[in-house]
Amino acid sequence: MSLLRNKTIIVTGAGGNIGQAYCRGFLEMGANVVAADLNDIGTEAAKWGHADRLMTIAANVLSQPDCDRVAEETVRRFHRIDGLLNNAGFFKSASFGSFLDIPPEEWDLCYQVNVRGTWQSIKAVHAQMKRQGQGSIVNISSNTPYKGVPNFLHYVSSKAAIVGLSRSLAREVGGDGILVNTLCPDLIPDGDIVARQGSAADERTIAGRCLKRTQFPEDMVGAAAFLFSDLAGFITGQSLLVNGGAHFN
Ligand SMILES: NC(=O)c1ccc[n+]([C@@H]2O[C@H](COP(=O)([O-])OP(=O)(O)OC[C@H]3O[C@@H](n4cnc5c(N)ncnc54)[C@H](O)[C@@H]3O)[C@@H](O)[C@H]2O)c1
Repeated sequence: MSLLRNKTIIVTGAGGNIGQAYCRGFLEMGANVVAADLNDIGTEAAKWGHADRLMTIAANVLSQPDCDRVAEETVRRFHRIDGLLNNAGFFKSASFGSFLDIPPEEWDLCYQVNVRGTWQSIKAVHAQMKRQGQGSIVNISSNTPYKGVPNFLHYVSSKAAIVGLSRSLAREVGGDGILVNTLCPDLIPDGDIVARQGSAADERTIAGRCLKRTQFPEDMVGAAAFLFSDLAGFITGQSLLVNGGAHFN
């Protein structure tokens, strides 16, 4: 499949289950992929193949110099930045509990990674995309702001902020030829999530969906690839809920 041939796409948070699925999928679809993560994911990424079109970079989205370095190394190796997928997130470490009890430091860290990290990564690629007169930014939000989830206020509100950020930024950079959209996954359980929330959480989530099955990382890949492809060139400022019909936008 060559939907993304000649596209160069940066994926942040590329080391998680979902981040890896995006990278593998984009590589299969012909893209050059820059897989960035807080941790060094070179060993894992070597299993994905397509080494000629893949670069891994250890970078912290909380550091503007790190974000800038990812953009610079991408241009040095692939000469363009067509897409940025802001997938790095503070999710699995976020504690559950009453809004009265969220530690302020945890509230700040959640917003820093999810919102400031997204903003800083976007700032890093903007000049190159503007020079090209073309670029597509996809920010990962969540189904949770649409559903309203109790006892998870910092995470849910930070992901709601991503929707506002994307819509407003779409208006700011549309004139530069840059698209900004949001993808909203529902619960995609992995071992860590099952250990934290139990398998009943997935069963409850499935019960609320039109499509009665578990959501997998691979369910996100087609929607993201579409938004980075030339097929989506007139779509911006939109939020796409990829959630099996759990909630409607
Ligand atoms: N898993 C779900 O059910 C679900 C549902 C809705 C939305 N999401 C969102 O999808 C994204 C990926 O989720 P996941 O389940 O794969 O999470 P994960 O924790 O498995 O992966 C997140 C990745 O981000 C990286 N990361 C964390 N902080 C970073 C930083 N400061 N700088 C750079 N990288 C950093 C981590 O190293 C990790 O590899 C997140 O934004 C999350 O909020 C997940």
